[in-house]
Amino acid sequence: MQNKSSILFVIGTRPEAIKMAPLIHLFKKSSEFTVNVCVTAQHREMLDQVLEIFQIKPDFDLNIMKENQDLFDITIRILTGLKKIILSIKPSFIFVHGDTTTTLSSSIACFYSGIKLCHVEAGLRTFNKKSPFPEEMNRQLTSRLSDIHFCPTKRSKENLIRENIDKKNIFITGNTVVDALEIGLEKIKKNKTNRVKELEAKIEEFHNMILVTGHRRENHGTGIVNICKALIKISEELKNTMIIYPVHLNPKIMIPVNKLLKNNDRICLVEPLDYLTFIWLMNKSKLILTDSGGIQEEAPSLGKPVILLRENTERPEGIENGNIILVGDNIDEIANTTVELMTNSTKYNKVSQLKNPFGDGNASKRILKIIKKQIKKC
Ligand code: UD1
Ligand code: UDP
Repeated sequence: MQNKSSILFVIGTRPEAIKMAPLIHLFKKSSEFTVNVCVTAQHREMLDQVLEIFQIKPDFDLNIMKENQDLFDITIRILTGLKKIILSIKPSFIFVHGDTTTTLSSSIACFYSGIKLCHVEAGLRTFNKKSPFPEEMNRQLTSRLSDIHFCPTKRSKENLIRENIDKKNIFITGNTVVDALEIGLEKIKKNKTNRVKELEAKIEEFHNMILVTGHRRENHGTGIVNICKALIKISEELKNTMIIYPVHLNPKIMIPVNKLLKNNDRICLVEPLDYLTFIWLMNKSKLILTDSGGIQEEAPSLGKPVILLRENTERPEGIENGNIILVGDNIDEIANTTVELMTNSTKYNKVSQLKNPFGDGNASKRILKIIKKQIKKC
């Protein structure tokens, strides 16, 4: 019998876990692979809730998170921790996802060890080294180090070709975020979480609900203050609308948001929600204000317009398609765009009926098939 190929998945933050979960399960089901999962735990609580929902038991846990960690802390701790793991299990492939410091540090560790690197969600670009920081460079550098690139869209493939990456190693698969969303929606349909029941009771009193998230480094400082001021303005104009804001645990977000928005009857601040409760809430919302990458890709599947609290995006497909409206951090721009979309039903209906340009729910299956083929070639 042929030897099994050994695959190591490395994930560290909430979005990486959500987007890799469907893939990890598919690889585990296949008899051709030995699968190990290493969590860096760049996030802790926010990561663990995803692992629990998708029933992923890590084989290795670097447990690196510290309060107010910086990029040096994360990079050094991951490189040191991963070295031992890679040397002990000697995988044939390492899979990383997206653009975090977990992604880049793991890619460097993989390159130093001479192991094949597979990058999921490859080829997204703003071409601005400072925005998003450090994610844009994490992506570009990971692409340089990767051997196999799984791109969500045609445009992300074209970005890589322009960077002289060999076409034969680039595959368009769609984004696994849609696969995860489909699994999640199925789970929450069968079983409402207690948190869903609590939120349902709160929302009932209002005619509409707007969901908000924000965490990007570029929005630390003035950005997050402006976003909060815009939310106050929106809540004053839309009196029958509740704003729900699950606040990221980063103190640079949590402290100003709590200071500016607590004690407002129409703005409900909650801790980060478990993934199932969050996608239920997305589905319940009328529209979403966010600077998140993953939410830009999920919302179109649910027909929810996204008002994007950023200056640029590496997901321009959503803007061109009409699902995403880019507003930056200007208070009036955020408030006026939101109120307009909430009150103009013709405009709203047009946006909410658009298709999702990021994926169709089959990305993980495509990736598995491609890797199986690659192995046969070796
Ligand atoms: C990280 C990623 C970002 C990604 C985001 C997803 C980098 C540089 N940033 O940003 O690309 O979009 O995750 O959310 O890789 N914290 C907790 N518990 C948690 C998670 C975070 O307490 O479960 C707090 C800690 O104080 C931690 C801080 O948040 O030090 C910042 O976490 P970090 O991963 O460095 O940055 P994020 O802003 O979460
Ligand atoms: N999410 C969640 N709970 C929350 C907020 C977001 O489970 O309270 C999920 C969301 O559905 C998406 C992912 O987390 O899949 C996005 O993570 P985040 O915005 O932190 O990171 P980004 O995608 O910007 O890297």
